[in-house]
Amino acid sequence: MRTVRVEASSAYDVLIGPGLLGECGARIAKVIAPCTAALVSDSNVAPLYAARVRESLETAGFRVAEFRFPAGERSKNLEVWAETVSFLAENRLGRGDFVAALGGGVTGDLAGFAASAYQRGIRCVQLPTTLLSAVDSSVGGKTAVDLPQGKNLVGSFHQPSLVLCDTDTLATLPDVQLRSGCAEAIKCAVLSSEELFARMETVPIPDMLEDTITACVEYKRGVVARDEFDTGERAFLNLGHTVGHAVEKCGGYALTHGEAVAVGLAVVTRAAAARGICSPRAAERIVALLEKTGLPVTTDIGATELFEAALSDKKRRGDSIRLILPEEIGRCRIETVPAADLIGWMRDGGVR
Ligand SMILES: NC(=O)c1ccc[n+]([C@@H]2O[C@H](COP(=O)([O-])OP(=O)(O)OC[C@H]3O[C@@H](n4cnc5c(N)ncnc54)[C@H](O)[C@@H]3O)[C@@H](O)[C@H]2O)c1
Repeated sequence: MRTVRVEASSAYDVLIGPGLLGECGARIAKVIAPCTAALVSDSNVAPLYAARVRESLETAGFRVAEFRFPAGERSKNLEVWAETVSFLAENRLGRGDFVAALGGGVTGDLAGFAASAYQRGIRCVQLPTTLLSAVDSSVGGKTAVDLPQGKNLVGSFHQPSLVLCDTDTLATLPDVQLRSGCAEAIKCAVLSSEELFARMETVPIPDMLEDTITACVEYKRGVVARDEFDTGERAFLNLGHTVGHAVEKCGGYALTHGEAVAVGLAVVTRAAAARGICSPRAAERIVALLEKTGLPVTTDIGATELFEAALSDKKRRGDSIRLILPEEIGRCRIETVPAADLIGWMRDGGVR
């Protein structure tokens, strides 16, 4: 088992390894005294893992109230969020109680946001069960739900008290979801490490999950410690996301988040290479690794449609937009460009 300590406005451990769900009660009891736990999970994850978590929590002296919602990004909205906080109230959770988010990024974002607002904030423990949530969303305290106008438009910063990443749960993950997590892991390597990227080129990510998750969480830990509230360096984590979010939205969420990020990463990489910012060799390697991992690198959605969708994204600042652009593997830069120019960047990136 690996432990990564995150030092944000509050400090907490991220534990990564097999068998952690079965011992979650005892591990949570080390940071939260016995109380009521609202166990939030979706309709796919609950039948697989909720009983294991409940049993472990109850054995450690916690009372458990279980809330389930229909799986999928479409549940990450204000209606399901309202149902979640109402559930907390109906089950009389108080300020000393906590929410356990068991599932992928949708569950973590939804349950984390419910915990952050309920009674002005109760504690939250993240139990990620997708590769994407393990490498990215369970760590760093960003929580949110989507609005019809765009993704993650309502949310808050709310650091978890503990993150337990049981790598055994990734064995039941559908291939498409595993690949989706690989996209965020590749993004992390492009941002941070030639060495990690080169390892991914030789060993398939699914064959080195614990190492990959640990490397990504260690990278994110540093970024979050330096820029918890996303006023500077944390923007780098949005590599591939400006176009990715637009692809996700225009495609009616038919692609997974990670697949959309893969398209976004490929588009900005090609655009950066076309404009002489990214070395041709690095661009070739990034697109090749995405393809080798089985991820999409192009989209049929037109540049005009993507452009309109990207403009409603919250990352837009007035008339400008910040693009994260690879220069080399392990080194990216932030470029603030006029929002109107984004369509040209997309076209340079191969969007028709
Ligand atoms: N907060 C952040 O910092 C942050 C960062 C990146 C992404 N996100 C958000 O994360 C979300 C995407 O997360 P995701 O890809 O994990 O989506 P998800 O939570 O919808 O999970 C994907 C699918 O896998 C299923 N699933 C989860 N774990 C499983 C398991 N172990 N076995 C079988 N099936 C399982 C889920 O039921 C779902 O159908 C997006 O909403 C994105 O905006 C947030």
